[in-house]
Amino acid sequence: MPSLANKRVLLGVTGGIAAYKSAEVVRRLQDSGATVRVAMTKGGTEFITPLTMQALSGNPVHTELLDTEAEAAMGHIELSRWADVIVIAPASADFIAKLVNGEGSDLLSTICLASRSPLAIAPAMNQGMWRNASTQHNIERLRGRSVHIFGPAEGEQACGDVGPGRMIEPDDIAELTADLFETGSLAGKKVVITAGPTREAIDPVRYISNHSSGKMGYALAEAAAEAGAETVLISGPVSLKAPERVKTLSVTSAREMYDTALAEANGCDLFIASAAVADYRPIQVSEKKIKKSADTMTIELVKNPDIVSAVAALQKRPFTVGFAAETANAEGGLEHHARGKLERKNLDLVIANDVSDRTIGFNSNDNAVLVVEGQGSEAIPKINKSILARQLVVKIANMLQG
Ligand code: C5P
Repeated sequence: MPSLANKRVLLGVTGGIAAYKSAEVVRRLQDSGATVRVAMTKGGTEFITPLTMQALSGNPVHTELLDTEAEAAMGHIELSRWADVIVIAPASADFIAKLVNGEGSDLLSTICLASRSPLAIAPAMNQGMWRNASTQHNIERLRGRSVHIFGPAEGEQACGDVGPGRMIEPDDIAELTADLFETGSLAGKKVVITAGPTREAIDPVRYISNHSSGKMGYALAEAAAEAGAETVLISGPVSLKAPERVKTLSVTSAREMYDTALAEANGCDLFIASAAVADYRPIQVSEKKIKKSADTMTIELVKNPDIVSAVAALQKRPFTVGFAAETANAEGGLEHHARGKLERKNLDLVIANDVSDRTIGFNSNDNAVLVVEGQGSEAIPKINKSILARQLVVKIANMLQG
């Protein structure tokens, strides 16, 4: 199970012979599921080239603080916000002293100053430098500021000395970095989510659609990615920004959403259908704009395929979650309707909400839902959609594990 799934690691490389191992650190972090960006000090670039680090990380390497072009691409503040964790490997004695003093004299030290994410260092230096009282004092001060100190190891050194100061192995750096995070409840899982409305064309300029904003589905995609899942979001036309760490596929019509969802859902672990799919589409789509003439006009509609039912009917079926948007006091009540949907569509869970209350559901930022499963139901009172999405992800992950 990739323990750093969806985590963003900024690897800092400072000047020391152990920098040749930084290339391997990038690989091991990636093996654990992390996206890696590299920032190097000038000293670091003397030992290993930025080109090597760029080729391995798949991202441009950051070296300059006062370079307008580099800052415009991804500035030091942006980088400090981007990183879920900063790992400096190797961390030289000089750079450790810089950290202690809170210097912002180069790009890497400035990123460390600006960042609120956890910081870990893997010291690497000659044994005499490591044992030196100044270095030991600096390390204790960093520990006191909750900086994680990885190693160093003892053994033979590049200079011929034997003792403490060797950088720990890249495997161990990746493992200790992963230990800084709780393993996501959906790590190693593939999650596919549909969201937003669909548009069913009448002619080249007109369509049938609904008021779905896609907010709930987008919040669920973010929460799933945060929980470590490989997340695919299949979205109808909405005005929301594609969430980070999520593969977002844009579709327009129900049939397009159907094709994309079935292709992605095959072999996935969890499918959440939060899209407000148009139930019907015009039988015929006029190739030309329909001219206004008669006082009335009739559009004949045909039923769209039911996406979530088709996914639930797959041979290798994922855990399948549907939504039920009902208007208040629907005959028999919300739970009755949701349970009907659960059985009819062969779902594992239905999240039902009352769309007649304008302060929740469809276009609003809040939602109140009733979560209905085979055994029972749970009401979650009105809450922000992002918070609700996280709660739903925790509940679903528990059910998946069960
Ligand atoms: O049948 P109804 O539209 O009320 O069911 C709602 C649930 O079914 C939602 O989860 C919705 O995303 C899903 N659905 C679907 N494909 C359709 C219609 C609804 O996946 N064609």
